[in-house]
Amino acid sequence: MSHASFSSEWLALREPVDHRSRAPELLEPLRAWCRAAGVERIVDLGSGTGSNVRYLAPRLFPEHFPQGGAGVEWLLVDHDAALLERALAGGIGTARGGASAGDDALAGLSAPTGDAAPDGGRHTLRAVVGDLGTDGLREVAGADLVTAAALLDLVSEGWIDEMVEACRASGAAALFALSYDGRVRWDPVRPMDALVLGAVNAHQRLDKGLGPALGPDAALRAEQRFRAAGWRTRRAASPWQLGPDDHPLVRLLLRGWAEAAIELRPSIAASVREWETDRTALLDGGGAFSVTVGHHDLLALPPAEGAL
Ligand SMILES: C[S@@+](CC[C@H](N)C(=O)[O-])C[C@H]1O[C@@H](n2cnc3c(N)ncnc32)[C@H](O)[C@@H]1O
Repeated sequence: MSHASFSSEWLALREPVDHRSRAPELLEPLRAWCRAAGVERIVDLGSGTGSNVRYLAPRLFPEHFPQGGAGVEWLLVDHDAALLERALAGGIGTARGGASAGDDALAGLSAPTGDAAPDGGRHTLRAVVGDLGTDGLREVAGADLVTAAALLDLVSEGWIDEMVEACRASGAAALFALSYDGRVRWDPVRPMDALVLGAVNAHQRLDKGLGPALGPDAALRAEQRFRAAGWRTRRAASPWQLGPDDHPLVRLLLRGWAEAAIELRPSIAASVREWETDRTALLDGGGAFSVTVGHHDLLALPPAEGAL
């Protein structure tokens, strides 16, 4: 089992790409549901530095920004205290400070923060440093809306079953954005692309801390489970479309994919390094290229009349 850890550099590079890639068509039905349900408590699972909250808060509650409005609490759950500390320090909007998770954050909840935020209205941020298999699922039980970004491909079928059951019990809606779907398309193509992708996708299914990961199947499996629970669902593509302007992110992607492929299949290490060298040279040379990385966003709303 490998513990899933992510550098703040990686999360910072992907944030603008994530935000421009997300499926906007899922926002309006969720915004309407939040308004009708009077949502007060939102749980963000695997929050990292808070990118998902920064994307969602002003889009789901535009009437609260910038002046402020009714109270919404965002509860962030992650096992990485340093990432959560950055999330709390950054606040919901662009320019506010806040309480930090503190040295004893591992003990549980941090202090509430943000109720006077000039840009976040009465939205408050709290953080739980804990594991998604225990603390995360416990927090889902008290949520109106459960959300996560770039998380679902790391979790197991068993975890999805428990999470859907917790949503069913609390009547919570769910939005899981940017789950990797196993498809990567390069232009220009290189002969080794398919071999590396096969190894990367097999690596995706290793245990990342919550049981054997579903990897590319996660969004579809979650949708099936929500439907079986009676939730209305809509799934939409949210691919990263990357090119020369995304040079630093693509460089880290190449590194990460090469490491994953070699970890899974040491026997192809020499070929994978050759592939990485070749792709990095193309990137650094400033030539034209594109790479599309497939993702899906999934919205699940509690039972009601009418399809989504
Ligand atoms: C790919 S990052 C996504 C972070 C953030 N949602 C974003 O969109 O930038 C996955 C996050 O899940 C957290 N994570 C992974 N496994 C976890 C677990 N078992 N318990 C708690 N957090 C976990 C990692 O620490 C990391 O911050």
